[in-house]
Amino acid sequence: SRSIDLAVIPGDGIGQEVVAQGLKVLNAVLPQDVKLETKEYDLGAQRWHRTGDTLPDAELEALRNHDAILLGAIGDPSVPSGVLERGLLLKLRFAFDHFINLRPSKLFPNTATPLAGRPDIDFVVVREGTEGPYTGNGGSLRTGTPAEVATEVSLNTAYGVERVVRDAFERAAARPRKKLTLVHKNNVLVYAGHLWKNTFDRVAAEYPQVSTDYLHVDAATIFFVTQPERFDVIVTDNLFGDILTDLAAAVTGGIGLAASGNINPTGAFPSMFEPVHGSAPDIAGQGKADPTATILSVALLLRHLGYDTEATRIEDAVSADLAERDGAATRTTDEIGDALAVRVAS
Ligand code: IPM
Ligand code: MN
Repeated sequence: SRSIDLAVIPGDGIGQEVVAQGLKVLNAVLPQDVKLETKEYDLGAQRWHRTGDTLPDAELEALRNHDAILLGAIGDPSVPSGVLERGLLLKLRFAFDHFINLRPSKLFPNTATPLAGRPDIDFVVVREGTEGPYTGNGGSLRTGTPAEVATEVSLNTAYGVERVVRDAFERAAARPRKKLTLVHKNNVLVYAGHLWKNTFDRVAAEYPQVSTDYLHVDAATIFFVTQPERFDVIVTDNLFGDILTDLAAAVTGGIGLAASGNINPTGAFPSMFEPVHGSAPDIAGQGKADPTATILSVALLLRHLGYDTEATRIEDAVSADLAERDGAATRTTDEIGDALAVRVAS
């Protein structure tokens, strides 16, 4: 019989609340014969305050043995900026070689967005997840003096760029519109820009059925707002992808709906699924957080593990739920989770 061995990292702030709803919907959607086992890991701000740990080796090793990881949110104003981001979240993405950071954007019905009522917006950003300026490759001189000098080097390897570009071509080839856009800034970042564009063009020759396009990242931000329907699959580096996907979330229904997967497609390590949003400490513990982004991340998790029917059931439930909701009424975190659990079970 089938089974899913899931690691759960609720993390900080609203992470706890939204993950509880994600698990509720996961339990409701899984067929009887699938055995779901979950193990919760106490990682994040509270743990750091208590013990000084961000992600000890023993826990990293334990996490490695699960089929997948569901993560809520990491970060709290009481912890110095960067400690948990680098010591926990990015450490997981790097240790488990999550080179695909998959961030779909769809315009769901009845959502408060500047683009409401626009024709089909349905694109996916394939953000590189292990390189770029995220590698911690930098330093500073004369730190804290008026003569301080700081560098933050963007690392780009032929190996790293090619594997994410190939993955993006595969995803584009599998979609009805078969269109892939490379986003970079090769008019200024000429070295990394050359590696990306050159790799993209070389791999493109193997995918004649995929139409291709190139945009500088600044121009891409304009089109995200003025012509989002022109995008199908987008491939870009770690930092551009970070910024573009917050913008994508904002224009397609809000950060409360944006899901993501940190994926290692080789299966060598567990992939990790999390909402794009952060820990929102200002609304934590009040039942105000929208758990939909986490629930849609559970759908990505299920698709990654081969449960396509169940993944689609969750996505359809979210569409139906949003289409039928009363825009004036506000629902609690729990109420949204309950409504979606009922829908996916029926
Ligand atoms: C995200 C976040 C992270 C990132 C931070 C918290 C390190 O903004 O998942 O988009 O920059 O990748
Ligand atoms: Mn981000």
